[in-house]
Amino acid sequence: MNRVELQELAEKVGARQQKLRCRLLCCGSTPCLSSGGGKVQEVLTETLLEKGLKAEVSVVNTGCMGPCSRGPLVTVQRLGAAEVTYQNVTPELAKEIVEKHVAAETPAVLPEHVLPGDHPFFAKQQKVVLSNSGQIDPELLEDYVVRGGYMALGNALRDMTPEEVCQEITRSGLRGRGGAGYPTGLKWDLVRKAHGDAKYVVANGDEGDPGAYMDRTLMESDPHRILEGMAIAGYAVGASQGYVYVRGEYPIAAQRLEKAIRTAERRGLLGSRVMDSNFSFRIDIRIGAGAFVCGEETALIASIMGKRGQPEPRPPYPSESGLWGKPTLLNNVETYGNIAPIIANGAEWYSGIGTEKSKGTKIFALAGALETTGLIEVPMGITLREIVYDIAGGIPDGRDFKAAQTGGPSGGCIPASHLDIPVDYESLKALGSMMGSGGLIVLDDTNCMPDVVKYFLEFCMDESCGKCIPCRVGTVEMHNILKRITNGSATEKDLATLEELCTMVRDTSLCGLGQGAPSPIVSTLRFFRDEYEAHIKEHRCPAGVCEMTEVPVLELTEELYRRAGEIETAQEVN
Ligand SMILES: Cc1cc2nc3c(=O)[nH]c(=O)nc-3n(C[C@H](O)[C@H](O)[C@H](O)COP(=O)(O)O)c2cc1C
Ligand code: SF4
Ligand code: SF4
Ligand code: FES
Repeated sequence: MNRVELQELAEKVGARQQKLRCRLLCCGSTPCLSSGGGKVQEVLTETLLEKGLKAEVSVVNTGCMGPCSRGPLVTVQRLGAAEVTYQNVTPELAKEIVEKHVAAETPAVLPEHVLPGDHPFFAKQQKVVLSNSGQIDPELLEDYVVRGGYMALGNALRDMTPEEVCQEITRSGLRGRGGAGYPTGLKWDLVRKAHGDAKYVVANGDEGDPGAYMDRTLMESDPHRILEGMAIAGYAVGASQGYVYVRGEYPIAAQRLEKAIRTAERRGLLGSRVMDSNFSFRIDIRIGAGAFVCGEETALIASIMGKRGQPEPRPPYPSESGLWGKPTLLNNVETYGNIAPIIANGAEWYSGIGTEKSKGTKIFALAGALETTGLIEVPMGITLREIVYDIAGGIPDGRDFKAAQTGGPSGGCIPASHLDIPVDYESLKALGSMMGSGGLIVLDDTNCMPDVVKYFLEFCMDESCGKCIPCRVGTVEMHNILKRITNGSATEKDLATLEELCTMVRDTSLCGLGQGAPSPIVSTLRFFRDEYEAHIKEHRCPAGVCEMTEVPVLELTEELYRRAGEIETAQEVN
């Protein structure tokens, strides 16, 4: 399919959709499916059949709509009427929606179940990467095409040289969304200029951070967008083969990507002579086995090659020597999700969103103590307060905000005193945290900080690949001390050792897993030192979470000596 045929297809599908009396968008992403979304879709379809409406009303199995904790969600798009979204839809409610809102001549909205379109959850968001999520059937190429899909690729192939594509990405200011925020255009240009008889493009969809599900959702909700971004990247750097590395625990994402690849190949949007050009590009999927460290780029590359997923020292960087020793472009899936909109709308448009050094939008997975949890996309520079209180509706049960954990196991905790911080790469780093891939966990006053940190350390300890000693042994030792702090048996000397270990492990570990493992400790010691001290000096957990069951060995010994002294004195007196 070339550009003209693509345009024709978009018009044909658009006209077909206009003729439908109604579209019922049903979220079919993992969180909604796990809260009964599958059954809801069945009931909608059955009821439409019963009413003889199957031809006039389509049920669209979409990706995530955002407010996942309010799922399953169903949006009714009735021709000529305002769109209405229903939340917490049960099979019974689904039947009622069809009967009263869809089938009836005069539609009756069921107000008590509606999630209003002007709800603050949506008001402060800006959807660039997620613009199709929740709006299209991710398994239908036509749904992607009708919203402009693959046009950016077609335009780039026809109107731009590879160098111009790299320049456009550089000018947009896009930075990698996988964690470190490396400038994307710079990376692309390095691979473009690197010499090699073959080059590769890799999408990192490993997503191992606890609490994070941005990449899974994007892959499940809009797989063609990632493929289009990768194809543009392939053209820009001179690669003809791409790989998407998907976490093994994400079967729906892998299936949808696989289907999208096959459909795009059949239509000539991937494969040989893409869109009738001289550019050929294939994409294959590789499934990870669930090791967090395989998200690290050198370990991921080893894993794709069938080797043990362990990090390697850099340089050489993958841009110079990656897969099979060839120049390899490796980006996060969300990074690729930004590419088509940048090419379609231009670098100036994109760099107009966000802050001076952090351009565009960022997707966050909201979890923890919030009224509404789910997936959001916000312009960089929005404040943490706006995310927590305006978008997510604040802390439930009138409790107090204590901290926001960002950046996963390599990140840190931002306390209430910094709620007005703009969320961008530099500001988060200055506070000892990091943007990371987009996990944002909110903690309230019922959370104990040393206990939360112990959880992250346990994660790093379990996920350490064991290649280098500081991380392999250091994470165990740091975890041991945190165990002692949270059971009441730690001493002040332990705290000093913990701080020493933090510096040592950070400075001497080979990869980001070890280097970042101390971050949650360092950050919470900076802002919540009093909680550590309460555990150690007073054997008290201020949040009432830790069972302070152990007595410090040192103090026990001192106590014995003291008592022995008392007995001796008593004997002397007698
Ligand atoms: C332990 C560890 C785990 C990582 N996991 C991921 C991951 O799941 N997804 C990801 O995109 N990047 C991950 N990264 C970062 C990658 O090494 C790499 O920087 C990133 O994929 C580059 O893409 P970007 O420039 O688009 O951000 C991880 C890094 C480390 C050290
Ligand atoms: S010394 Fe220990 S860590 Fe090093 S290779 Fe031998 S067994 Fe492994
Ligand atoms: S820092 Fe940890 S995860 Fe990274 S190579 Fe060393 S042992 Fe493996
Ligand atoms: S999974 Fe349904 S709204 Fe997020």
